[in-house]
Amino acid sequence: MENNHSILIENARAYVQALFAGESSGHDYYHTLRVFKMATRIARAEQADVESVQLAALLHDVDDRKLSPETYATQANARRFLQEQGVDEMRAARICRIISQVSFSANGSAAPDTLEGKCVQDADRLDAIGAIGIARAFAYGGNHGRLMYDPEVAPRADMTAQEYAKSKSTTVNHFYEKLFKLTDLMQTPTAIAIAKARQAYMRAYIEEFMAEWDGLC
Ligand code: ADP
Ligand code: NI
Repeated sequence: MENNHSILIENARAYVQALFAGESSGHDYYHTLRVFKMATRIARAEQADVESVQLAALLHDVDDRKLSPETYATQANARRFLQEQGVDEMRAARICRIISQVSFSANGSAAPDTLEGKCVQDADRLDAIGAIGIARAFAYGGNHGRLMYDPEVAPRADMTAQEYAKSKSTTVNHFYEKLFKLTDLMQTPTAIAIAKARQAYMRAYIEEFMAEWDGLC
């Protein structure tokens, strides 16, 4: 990390590094670090409050529903960290609110109502697309015992949040069920431009995948 960050940001980085040690589900420390870097870039370009965005980005998965189901509802980990760091209550509440607006599975397509929330959500979603998004999707599929692709199982583009949570679809279907839809859900002009390039890359990747599957190239 650049060394001109505040002590608070550096402490948050060290906190998530320790908390996520050994995590390989796709919500690991390096996911958080990528979201931090991208959210910082978006926040600067969009003239958002950079430090709030950085803190929310670093803490956005510490009370994730899957990683920490017991603190998910209360955001206890984020709250405790911010309190221990002496962040005042108003600011801590603002940061926790940004975090609660970020997750796809928790909010579906609802957009955050603050610019800072949009910056973090866009950064989190950008990490699900492009070359890294492809790698994360196949890593997730492998972890969950899914087939990479099954021509017998059609993708379902119109799932409800509940169906999405229960879905046992293949990883290639996940591109149609979620990843190809993310570009249209981006909120900031900065993220929209980045998403478009990543979307084109993923489309080309799936085209190549299908051609190789059929022995065509
Ligand atoms: P969020 O933290 O926004 O709720 P998820 O936990 O749904 O996101 O996803 C985390 C990562 O795992 C993303 O890169 C996502 O694309 C990937 N992923 C989630 N569900 C699947 C799936 N069914 N198949 C393949 N990849 C998945
Ligand atoms: Ni995330």
